[in-house]
Amino acid sequence: MPDTSLEKYDHVPVTKEDLDWAELVTLDLSLYDQPGGKEKLVKQLEHAVQHVGFFYVKNFNISQEEVDFQFALGREFYALPLEEKLKYHNADDLARGEYNGYRPAGHRILGNGIRDNVQVYNIPKFDGYHQRAQPDVLQKYATEIEAFSRKCHTEVVEKLLRLFAILLELPDEDQLVRDHKYDVKGEDHLRYMHYAARSAEDNKKVGELYSPGHTDLGTITLLFRQPVVALQILNSEGQWKWVRPQDGTITINTCDALTALTGGFIKSSIHRVHAPPQDQAHVDRLGVLYFARPNNHVILDPIQNSPLLNHLGLTKNAFTELDQHLTTEQWVKVRQSQQQRRNRDVKISDDGKYTYKHKDLEIIPGLQAVVYN
Ligand SMILES: [Fe+2]
Repeated sequence: MPDTSLEKYDHVPVTKEDLDWAELVTLDLSLYDQPGGKEKLVKQLEHAVQHVGFFYVKNFNISQEEVDFQFALGREFYALPLEEKLKYHNADDLARGEYNGYRPAGHRILGNGIRDNVQVYNIPKFDGYHQRAQPDVLQKYATEIEAFSRKCHTEVVEKLLRLFAILLELPDEDQLVRDHKYDVKGEDHLRYMHYAARSAEDNKKVGELYSPGHTDLGTITLLFRQPVVALQILNSEGQWKWVRPQDGTITINTCDALTALTGGFIKSSIHRVHAPPQDQAHVDRLGVLYFARPNNHVILDPIQNSPLLNHLGLTKNAFTELDQHLTTEQWVKVRQSQQQRRNRDVKISDDGKYTYKHKDLEIIPGLQAVVYN
């Protein structure tokens, strides 16, 4: 049970605007332990992961109180003076692909003279390999933070990994879980994320976006429900749709490492962060997220013993096509280094299309990051 000495976190009201919402399935994880439940969930998942790569989960055994306690911790962290937060920031580390700790807003240039408006604080998983100093306000609650991080893993990530294993017809439903052990060295992390509201004038200069279209690099990302709408996904018809905050859910998106492991069968979801609608345009947006990744030693080659992937001929991926066999550790370093590059020459057109210099998008020779407009 979370400590109750922190003031309760109050979520702002939801938008009243009638937006073009994405149609996403919701997986009820209470079915998971019921007879035939996993099979039902796999059926729901099948379409989602091959098309948009986004879905919701509900009944995941983490209470709203526990989730809101994390929002309260995020609120307390961002309320610290900048100089205090900067004690947990190291620009050289970021350039080297080490992303844990604090990243201040404005670290990157979005384009047209506007810097990013996002602050990030990443707390590595408690695997014994990522000892980091934390500010007092978080250190006091280290037990609760670790418990929450572990619950994200066992209650959500591991369950979904077993469903993916069933979908891939793997001989053992724990095969992917074994490549994602919480206590084995890895780059999974919990994140508190803060987007500061920006003026209409500045939003216009950057195509109304807080973050242009991209994919995430890991296995799955968990986005805990928060009411300031901003997340948009690119659906299989090539349309950007808003993601609705649904009570009691986590929004899940599938990411690059899973695409690599499945030879492209599981799609890496394309998403972006839009400025919120009019009635929330003045509100800062606080997020609680958990990023799951394969363990560091896992080689991101397509899984060889999946009858489904073999039947579909999905035996190659973007790395093996280049004769590369990257471990997760290598992939995270090169991709994070590319993402943190302080791009100086981004062009943003009047209709919000982002164009980067070729060198800014290079992850490894022959492999470019894609920005989706
Ligand atoms: Fe993302």
